[in-house]
Formats: sequence, structure tokens, C-alpha cells
Amino acid sequence: MEMGSGIASILDKKALDRDDIIALLQCGEDEAPLLYRRAAAVRDHYVGSHVYLRGLIEYSNICRKNCLYCGVRRDNLRIERYTMTREEVLEAAMTAFNLKLGSIAIQSGENSSGAFIDTIEELISTIRRMTDNKLGITLSLGEQSRETYRRWYDAGAHRYLLRIETSNQSLYRKLHPDDEMHRYQRRLECLKAIQDTGYQTGTGVMIGLPYQTMGDLADDIIFMRDFDIDMCGMGPYIEHSDTPLGERGTDHRLLKERFSLSLRMIAILRIVMRDINIVASTAMQTIDPAGREKAVSCGANVVMPNLTPARYREGYRIYEGKPGYNEVNESNVSGLNPDLIPGITIGLGIWGDTPHYGRRLGRKK
Ligand code: 5AD
Ligand code: SF4
Repeated sequence: MEMGSGIASILDKKALDRDDIIALLQCGEDEAPLLYRRAAAVRDHYVGSHVYLRGLIEYSNICRKNCLYCGVRRDNLRIERYTMTREEVLEAAMTAFNLKLGSIAIQSGENSSGAFIDTIEELISTIRRMTDNKLGITLSLGEQSRETYRRWYDAGAHRYLLRIETSNQSLYRKLHPDDEMHRYQRRLECLKAIQDTGYQTGTGVMIGLPYQTMGDLADDIIFMRDFDIDMCGMGPYIEHSDTPLGERGTDHRLLKERFSLSLRMIAILRIVMRDINIVASTAMQTIDPAGREKAVSCGANVVMPNLTPARYREGYRIYEGKPGYNEVNESNVSGLNPDLIPGITIGLGIWGDTPHYGRRLGRKK
């Protein structure tokens, strides 16, 4: 067999099975560009050569959970906890609207108090009203009850992102405390509830976790396909020194490997699911300053410029080295370097929904 013919023949298949996905994840660096180019072509064909924007609002870093990998976990006493004021959230939303970002994503540590649920509901309806229903609203607010998902949906949010983190249940157990608040099964039920409520549903995983195998990552892709998600946000795992899982630190070589594995995951998911929205994550930019542009070149089509007020940024350090530098400014709202992504246009003033969501509903009827 000729060198390189391996992945070319896989890429020509109509459907990829688990072994194909593993082979793509493991292909040599010389072959990877072929995978990336194919994924970008699939993106261009099925969703267009655009990048959509979501202005990111990190509402609060108060979290009831204790995920072993995350710097915002409840037991990390080294960060100062904050919650943005109503005015700050509305101002950030108006900035997104005025800069034509098209939509916002409200993210927060997990909180299911009555006050939190009410506040979010009120913020959603106020933002919708203030922007004449023209600003899209994505939520990423963790595990909640069906009723809460419904209330926020009725208030005007229409996309929800809840990462499964890993589709391998026993790995999930190793990454979380063993208690009722951190169950894989509950996470899955919530994702289902989100989809049933009518949201465009997003999930994602961390890439390069301890104990994670290539088979696990292939299963993650298959999980997303079988769940029929509309959006995906995934990225490399990055140790945080104030967490049980990250206290021994990491080295740059490992991070580089996770970065390149993340590009492959994005590309493969694009080829497998074609018309979904895939985020070029901030974690990628943390490892490589051109990380988001590279992700776009591998098939991603969403970026999330950060609109959180500067003084809170330090408090939302989920992982080490999370950049605070992708500031939004009027001359370049995406923060992307256009020279690195020739042929890509930035979708301004539009929600940037996926055709996948409409197709999924069509199939259900
Ligand atoms: N490295 C990378 N991603 C992380 N997340 C949490 N901690 C880390 C970390 N150390 C991701 C998880 C979570 C999202 C808010 O951030 O996937 O769902
Ligand atoms: Fe809280 Fe999310 Fe971090 Fe877990 S990953 S500790 S739920 S902010």
C-alpha cells in the first residue's frame, strides 16, 4: 500500500465506523492535513464558509459542584466568587447586539436556587425585549430540572449547551466525586430533557483526559452522532493546579498532543455530522495563540468572543492560562486573525442556527 492511502480510503467511505474513527484519530502528522481539508470542505458545503459569533457572558463563578478537574469547583477557596449584576449582564448583551454578534451565550457555575432560576428567567425575557427578539440566546447553566429548562425556554432562550465531558461512564466516575450531585446518568437525563424541551442542543467532551483512550474519543463522536446533537463545544483538557486532578501540573508537550487530538476530533465530528455548529474553543487558544483559527480550518464554525467585564475574568479560570486577551473591539469583533482563515466570512447580525436542528425536527414528525 502506498503511504497515505490509508486515510484517503477511509475519508471516501459513506459512513465511518468506530475503527475508522480511531484510525483517523491516530493518523500521522503528514496525513492529518488531508483530514482537515476534507472537514473544512464538508463545513463549506453543508453550513457555508462562515463563522458565527456568540458573545460570551460568564454570569457567575459560584458553583455547587466539585468536578475534580475544574478551577471553579466549590472547594477551590483560592478564587474570589462573583455574580454579575443585572445591569452588567444587560450592558454586555447590548454590546453584543450593537456589535452585531447576533447572539449571546450565558454561562455560569451550577446553581439551582430559586433566586438564580428567577433571575436568569427575567434576564432572558428582558434581553429579548430590549433587542426586539433579534438577539439569539444560548444557555450553558448546567444540570437543572425539566421545569427550569422549560421556564427558560419559554422566556426566550433557544439553545442549550451541556457537556457530557466523556461518554465513558466509568471515566466520568473517576473525574467527579462519587455522590448524587455528580452522576453520569443524571447528566444524560438532563441532556435528554434539554432536547425534549425544544432547545437546539449542544454537548461536548474534554480531550486528553487522564485514563482516556482513543476508543473513548471515538465513542464520544458516536455518542454525539447517536444523540443527534445540534451543536458541539469540545476542547483539550488543561490541568488547573488548584484541583485534585491537576495539582501535579502538566508539560507543554502533552498539551500540544491534546491540541492536535482536538483538531482531529473537530474534523472527524464535522465529517460525521456535517451540518451541526462546532465551536472553536477558548481552551484551544490557550494552548496555541492561533488555536481558534486552526480549529476553523479544521471545520469549526462558531467562536465565542468574551464579553465578561474584565474585573471578573480572573475569577472564571476554569483551567490554567485561560486567556483574557480575546477582547471584543469594534474593528474586529470575532478576535480572529482573518489572514489565517482565508475564504471565511464572519456572520454578523444573524443567529447562526444550524440547518441540522430543522432537519432533526423534520425527521421526528
Ligand atoms: N480543562 C479543560 N476544560 C475544562 N472544563 C472544566 N475544567 C476544565 C479543564 N481543566 C470545561 C468542561 C466544562 C466547561 C465549563 O469547561 O468541559 O463543561
Ligand atoms: Fe462547576 Fe462546571 Fe466547573 Fe463542574 S465544570 S465545577 S459544574 S463550573
